[in-house]
Amino acid sequence: MLKGKNIVVGVTGCSSAYQAADIVKKLVSLRANVDVIMTSSATKFIAPLTFRNISGHPVIQDQFADPVSWDEGHKKLADKADLLLIAPATANIIGKAASGIADDILSTTIMSTEAFTIFAPHMNPKMYRKPVVQRNIQTLQKDGCLIIQQEKLMPSGKKLYSMLADTEFIIKEVTRLLLAEE
Ligand SMILES: Cc1cc2nc3c(=O)[nH]c(=O)nc-3n(C[C@H](O)[C@H](O)[C@H](O)COP(=O)(O)O)c2cc1C
Repeated sequence: MLKGKNIVVGVTGCSSAYQAADIVKKLVSLRANVDVIMTSSATKFIAPLTFRNISGHPVIQDQFADPVSWDEGHKKLADKADLLLIAPATANIIGKAASGIADDILSTTIMSTEAFTIFAPHMNPKMYRKPVVQRNIQTLQKDGCLIIQQEKLMPSGKKLYSMLADTEFIIKEVTRLLLAEE
């Protein structure tokens, strides 16, 4: 049970973005309070309305928009979060976070929060193997972030780590970290 825990889920522009709805649904069913931030690319893959419906909160997409209520905006969300989970995480957001770039609401929240931050990457294996992507992942790990990389066995027998981990695998990690803090 995650009652009373504030989790901010960042959704980025991956082909697996639809799985974030499943992740948010599961966190809500564990009684967590979940706020969702979407990048502009993420909204091309899945509608913000899906997350508003599941989380019960307005979805944050634009850092310059008028706040919908007094406690919104990146600063409040960054302060409120017990944990920030970026799932799925693009190579782009991983690169921005590793380089200290804050040019949209999600990257600004990552930069502003003191909450434990988890990235669950999803990208094609060629992108994932790029030295710059591997360097960025290592930088985030050195900075204290958790990168969730689940081994997946392909029908060819090849093992991949570049795909978004299963929902249950991600929830287990989130729960472990939040309950370890108590
Ligand atoms: C159909 C399609 C699927 C994509 N899937 C991924 C993906 O799985 N992982 C990734 O890193 N980028 C993927 N991209 C590229 C990102 O959407 C692109 O880099 C975008 O600028 C990321 O923006 P964001 O990080 O702000 O969400 C995909 C692009 C398209 C058009």
